[in-house]
Amino acid sequence: MAPFSGLLLAALLLVAVTGEADAGGTKYRLARYDRVFSFGDSLTDTGNSAILPATAGGPFTNAPYGQTHFKRPSGRASDGRLVLDFIVESLRLPQPTPYLAGSTAEDFRQGVNFAVGGATALDMAFLQSKGITSFVPVFLSNQTTWFNDVLHLLLASPRNGQRQRKIMARSLFYFGEIGFNDYSFALKTNGTVGLAESLVPHIVGVIRSALIDAIAAGARTMVVTGMIPIGCEPELLTMLPSGAGSYYDKASGCITRFNQVAQLHNRELNRMLCELRRAHPRTSIHYGDLYHPVVTIISSPGKYGFGGMPLAACCGGGGGPYNFNFTFFCGTPLARACTDPSRSVSWDGIHYTEAANRFIARGMLRGL
Ligand SMILES: *[C@@H]1O[C@H](CO)[C@@H](O)[C@H](O)[C@H]1NC(C)=O
Ligand SMILES: *[C@@H]1O[C@H](CO)[C@@H](O)[C@H](O)[C@H]1NC(C)=O
Ligand SMILES: *[C@@H]1O[C@H](CO)[C@@H](O)[C@H](O)[C@H]1NC(C)=O
Repeated sequence: MAPFSGLLLAALLLVAVTGEADAGGTKYRLARYDRVFSFGDSLTDTGNSAILPATAGGPFTNAPYGQTHFKRPSGRASDGRLVLDFIVESLRLPQPTPYLAGSTAEDFRQGVNFAVGGATALDMAFLQSKGITSFVPVFLSNQTTWFNDVLHLLLASPRNGQRQRKIMARSLFYFGEIGFNDYSFALKTNGTVGLAESLVPHIVGVIRSALIDAIAAGARTMVVTGMIPIGCEPELLTMLPSGAGSYYDKASGCITRFNQVAQLHNRELNRMLCELRRAHPRTSIHYGDLYHPVVTIISSPGKYGFGGMPLAACCGGGGGPYNFNFTFFCGTPLARACTDPSRSVSWDGIHYTEAANRFIARGMLRGL
């Protein structure tokens, strides 16, 4: 990874100092942004998949999803808040409207979340050409199209360049993790990592297109999050077990080769981000790390206040080290939640608990 550009480093230091001054109150004195525009999949979705016809009525819309924070299913794939929610709270931003829940400029003025649970980075035709079946007809390119539609609504006619620059300068762009579904489908299709690995340049390529689109529209501050440790997912640990000794990482118990796919993705993503920083020095591009915080808690759960079975889903059933079985999927009638989700990393075998999301967000906010 190339070093940060001087400009970005200066911006980071400035923010770090501002954050330091407020450390006691944990809130930032000055709101630096008016709104957030966010993109991604179920790790970032705050209500779209509950509305999208292809996914409406899915498990996330049932209890016990949302039990910890919202006290009701909120359309989020967690027991409580997502990483995006913690960022929005800490920066004192208004909660963005899920794109599918709004239609007017007024609905969208305070920010929009385009993330959809089950979304893939790559489009369905491309995945099909690789023999991979996806289920949710939303790709990163759809979210970019939606963003451009919203921008037109907010600007109203006639187009006003100055107004656009003003809106964009006061907007934070949060590109949540995208691509996990592509990799997960590939691994479940094939079982070996070759197919998943072959997707890396394509997925990083479509993320690059989405970032360039936002930069071209005038985005000044972006957070681009990387890939989660795929090999630590209880669902994949259950579905793709193996007897071979080196299959599992000693420290974490995660599947080594799957985590290497995530690391490859993150290396390629960071390489691309460095190029974008050089080409667009007026835009601050922050990398949001989802990989190391999760591996850190899974490797030493006790040290960070988590319980002794960090690879087990809190909500679900089936027992064993992963407590994952589709028959007992969280939000379905046979599922049960653990008594204390704040001690679990995985909420439902695929998505993180609020406790894990808070831990991840804390690391991300240090650099924002
Ligand atoms: C996503 O974009 C494709 C074209 O690339 C389109 O066919 C599809 O309808 C879009 N999906 C949604 C939900 O708008
Ligand atoms: C998995 O993909 C590799 C190429 O990436 C291919 O050689 C192999 O046949 C595939 N295996 C299955 C079971 O589809
Ligand atoms: C999941 O649970 C069902 C019902 O108890 C059981 O028949 C099935 O074997 C389980 N699957 C796995 C992979 O353990």
